Amino acid sequence: MLTDEMRETLIQKALHARDWAYAPYSDYAVGAAVLTESGKIYDGVNIENAVYPLTMCAERVAIFKAVSQGEKSFQAVAVVTRNGGTPCGSCRQVMAEFGMDTVVLIADTDGTLLAEYTVADLLPDAFGQADLEQP
Ligand code: THU
Repeated sequence: MLTDEMRETLIQKALHARDWAYAPYSDYAVGAAVLTESGKIYDGVNIENAVYPLTMCAERVAIFKAVSQGEKSFQAVAVVTRNGGTPCGSCRQVMAEFGMDTVVLIADTDGTLLAEYTVADLLPDAFGQADLEQP
């Protein structure tokens, strides 16, 4: 059960992580924080590259950090941007891999929660593992 206190903690973690964003090309810093089912928090930032397509989003950095530590199920992901931007399609697909019920919190740099979704809200009819099952 995701409490308001946890929502606040997660947003603050994402907000502070955002200071480490490496976004010299877009100047659009993003911070993310993911809360695992086991109660741990992993944060992430967007990391751009002079070869633009190599850029990695904050949400995926946070999720990949968690998965690389053995975590595969997530209660919530907080995303902080200057204007309440929502996760891109690639990040939605990566979130969907690990559960459609994960809560996605969208906040701005004041730490204000602007919107709350589930992954299912953000990516209806997602392609997933079940689609790869042999007939
Ligand atoms: N970005 C993210 O980090 N997450 C998203 O979901 C949307 C976009 C980053 C990528 C790039 O560094 C900058 O925001 C502008 O697209």
